[in-house]
Order: sequence, then structure tokens, then C-alpha cells
Amino acid sequence: MLQTEQILQDRYQIQRQLGNNGIRQTWLAKDLQATEEKNSLVVVKLLAFGGAVQWDDLKLFEREGQILKQLNHPFIPKYIDYFCIDDHSLWFGLVQEYIPGESLKEKLVNGERFTENKVRKIAVKILKILTYLHELNPGVLHRDIKPSNLIWGENNQIYLVDFGAVQDKAAKEGATFTVVGTYGYAPMEQFGGRAVPASDLYALGATLIHLLTGLPPADLPQKDLRIQFADRVSLSLSFENWLQKLIEPAPEQRFSHTHQALDALKSGEMVQQKNAIKHLDIKEVINNSGCGLFNKDATVPEEILGWNWGAFLMPWFWMWPNNVWYGLLCFIPQIGLITTIYLGAKGNEWAWKSRRWRSIEQFKQHQRGWAIAGIMIGAPVSIMIWMGVFAMLIDSIF
Ligand SMILES: Nc1ncnc2c1ncn2[C@@H]1O[C@H](COP(=O)(O)OP(=O)(O)O)[C@@H](O)[C@H]1O
Ligand SMILES: [Mg+2]
Repeated sequence: MLQTEQILQDRYQIQRQLGNNGIRQTWLAKDLQATEEKNSLVVVKLLAFGGAVQWDDLKLFEREGQILKQLNHPFIPKYIDYFCIDDHSLWFGLVQEYIPGESLKEKLVNGERFTENKVRKIAVKILKILTYLHELNPGVLHRDIKPSNLIWGENNQIYLVDFGAVQDKAAKEGATFTVVGTYGYAPMEQFGGRAVPASDLYALGATLIHLLTGLPPADLPQKDLRIQFADRVSLSLSFENWLQKLIEPAPEQRFSHTHQALDALKSGEMVQQKNAIKHLDIKEVINNSGCGLFNKDATVPEEILGWNWGAFLMPWFWMWPNNVWYGLLCFIPQIGLITTIYLGAKGNEWAWKSRRWRSIEQFKQHQRGWAIAGIMIGAPVSIMIWMGVFAMLIDSIF
């Protein structure tokens, strides 16, 4: 068992564990032979051979070292060393440059949320690294893009780490039977051993969805094998369609190369999808919610128009969470009744314009709740008030 301060190979003094997936341990260590203080921190990944750790794991571990050695990119950690220790059991170690920062997973765990703008920028940075990998000769597929393998460096750059699942295209053509990747992020074809460049694009899409929704893609609902995320976030239509294209279940429906994805993202080009028109209507109006009651140019989705029972039956309460301040008029006895009828008729439109709603579905759900409350509580109270008003009218007439 490894302990803090222990020195490996008379050179690497281990300091803090960064990861342990049961097979590999990752440690932050100090390189005692480093010439400059600023280069003295390194990452040592260790694999103890034997037991549950089998030849396939060792093969991947060795490949990780070999590939890392060949890579030269400013946002991929540099290879430093590879060693083997024969001490009761057999240990293999891979040493690489340490990237000071925080992984995107750590950021998510710490509750950080990512806006569309931020996610677009992250996407461009990752796509540039992937372009470098895919365009190498032979090309390299990462096969394990996910938040824990992406580091947000202290210099605000995004780094790609963990080449433990890489596939060197020269080594294998066609199907490979070492299944790698992480459930939720890796596409189906990868689990069938048939990864292609578009497989990394799927994992990128799933990762970006995690950043936007705060939920791991495996926890999001699926429909026809597609991750359902659109109703949880408010995105521009072009970005939503771009993401949808990344996570198409069939690889041939995705962008086939990173530069295609990059061009489409940069130009904000609208990706043609079967149901793009249907989305268009809905999305445009979503962005118009909360635009202000007096905004005449705003579009209000047809689907939400209609009688608002919640507003009609409980005008005194309904107006507060919906930010419809016209509702205050219902407290004035002389015009209270007319206001209430007006709220029933115009309530949906006014509530839509008064508050910012995440989606049409969220709006409808909210109003449905009020309608139920209105029927259960508001209706009996309203009937009593109306009966009172009616009795007063009759009294005053006769
Ligand atoms: N070069 C690095 N610089 C900084 N942190 C790293 C580096 N490599 C890995 N890490 C951190 O250690 C964690 C585990 O390392 P990783 O290579 O992903 O191991 P595993 O193969 O077990 O997933 C990563 O999630 C990341 O937070
Ligand atoms: Mg990892």
C-alpha cells in the first residue's frame, strides 16, 4: 500500500491521491530530480499487476504511456517517465506533467453551473484538442471524454488528460474487444468495440450536457436512445440542435469530423434536423418569456393561451408567484370581480410575459398546479364570495 511521502524510484515523492478506479491509482508527486521548482510537481499513475488486474489492463496502461510519449500539444500533459517496480507485487508507473487546476467533475461537484456561453467556449477548446488527436497519423481516439478527464487549468485553459482508453487506429482496424469508455458518455458503437472519430464527439456532447444540466447523462431520461436534456435548459436553437447532432445514436448521423463540428459551432449554423421546424416555434417563444408585460413585439406561444383557472379562482394568491401586478386590482371591491374575470382570460399571457420561464412545459406545470389549488380551495371561497355579492345585489334591488 502506498503512503504519503513515500519515494518511488528514488525520485517521485508521492503527496496526494488524485484518483483510484480500483485498477489504477493516480497520485500527485514531487519530482526530486526536477531542475526547476515550478516543474517539480508531477502526476504518477500506478498499476499493480495481478489479482483483478489482467493483461488487458496492462496493455491499455502501456499504450497510455506510449501514446502520451508521442503527443505534443499545449493542452495535453507531457510524458515524463515510465517505470516498473518489482516489490512483492509488480507495479507499473507512468509519470506525466501535473496540470494545476480543477477537473470539470470537481467543479460540478462543487456546485458550479455552466452557461451556454461558457459551454460553447469549452466545446471549442476540446474540439481543437480532439482535432489534433484525430488528425495525427495514425489518428488517436481518446474514447473516454468526460468531466473528470478534463482539467480547467489555473490559466483558464482546458486540458485533456487520461489516455488510459485510447485507441491507436494503426493498432486496430475494425472491431476491438477491449471495452473501454464510461457508461453515459460513451456511445453504443464503442461498447460494441467499434469506435470512430464521431464516438469522441458523442462523449463530448454528453459531457457538455452534463455541464449544462448539472446531471450525469446516465441520470437523464432517454427517448429512442437519445438523451433528453432540452427541457431542462434554455439554449439557443442553433446550440441545442448542434448538441442534438453530437449525441445522435447512429454515428453516421453525427458530424463525422471535429472540424465539421467546430465550423458549425463557430458559425452558429443551423443544423438541419428532421424536427428542426417544430423546435423553432417552441424555442423562439421560450426566449421571449419574461420580456415585460408591455412588450408588444413579444410572441406568446399559442399552446399556453386559454382560460387560466388558477388566476380566476385564486386571484389574490396567484398573482404573486406569477408577477402579475395587475392582479392587485382584485383587492378593490368595486372592480374586483371584473379584474378576476380579466385575469382568467389574460392571465396566461401576462404571466408568460412577466416572468422568465425555463420552458413551456415548466410554465404549464406551474399553471396546472394553480388550477388544481384553485379548484380545491379557490372555488369554494369564490362561490361563497359570489353568493354574498349576489345576495347584496338582491337586497339592494328589493
Ligand atoms: N496530468 C494531470 N494533471 C492534473 N491532474 C490530473 C492529471 N492527470 C490526472 N489528473 C487528475 O487525476 C484524476 C485521475 O486521473 P486519470 O488519469 O483520469 O485516472 P483514471 O485512469 O483512473 O481515470 C483525474 O480525474 C484528474 O482529476
Ligand atoms: Mg479518468
